[in-house]
Amino acid sequence: MINAHYMKGWVLFLVFLFVLSCGTESGKVSNTSTTSDDSAQDSSRYRYEDRYEENEDSEHELKKSSYSKSSHNSGMNCMECHKEGGTGEGVFKVAGTVYDKNGQIYPGTTVKLYTGPNGSGELKYTLEVDKSGNFYTTENIDFGQGLYPAVEGRGGVKYMPTSASSGACNSCHDQNKRIWAE
Ligand code: HEC
Ligand code: HEC
Repeated sequence: MINAHYMKGWVLFLVFLFVLSCGTESGKVSNTSTTSDDSAQDSSRYRYEDRYEENEDSEHELKKSSYSKSSHNSGMNCMECHKEGGTGEGVFKVAGTVYDKNGQIYPGTTVKLYTGPNGSGELKYTLEVDKSGNFYTTENIDFGQGLYPAVEGRGGVKYMPTSASSGACNSCHDQNKRIWAE
């Protein structure tokens, strides 16, 4: 009887210790969660600012077409929207669309701008035509006295006989007169 009573005392004592330690544990847990709530709020505030700065930057960051990317609105005059104060993201200095002889968009071709006709003079700029048949750049293009466009397809190069002083290629090359290459 005495032993059993003694054991019961120990059991109660151990239960007491257990409850006590649980209390401390849960106290710690709720403390940590308060702290992490605070830091979650902090980091979401920083994330918001980062995002805001990213948007600020992306207005000025270089946007340029490449063979591996795709874009939208093939055939439209990109500069209707991608102009200073326009709705399009990025102010394009040169942009347009290249087609093949069947009137299909022609990805993987290359647009070059020379200072002289038929590939003469200096090659000033090279643009890759993307998966949507489009080329574009926000880099500061100096047209000078005008630049002579050329388009390289898999079957050869086509030269614009006159120089262009505007990079809004699709403003002239609409559905009646596409830029096209062999
Ligand atoms: C009717 C207006 C309009 C026209 C025309 C237009 N765009 Fe856009 N473009 C937008 C808008 C708005 C966005 C931003 C939202 C989105 O991605 O759709 C955009 C976004 C883009 C982007 C993504 C920019 C980035 O890095 O986030 C590219 C690339 C692009 N356009 C290329 C072109 C090309 C090339 C043409 C012409 C063949 C063109 N756009 C014609 C309105 C236009
Ligand atoms: C002011 C109007 C105008 C602008 C802007 C313009 N072009 Fe042209 N382009 C023409 C005319 C006109 C021709 C001659 C078409 C013909 O042979 O009847 C031509 C011909 C061409 C040709 C010769 C082969 C073909 O497709 O007929 C290419 C390539 C070409 N342009 C590319 C471009 C590129 C790239 C741009 C933008 C950098 C551009 N053009 C801007 C008017 C323009």
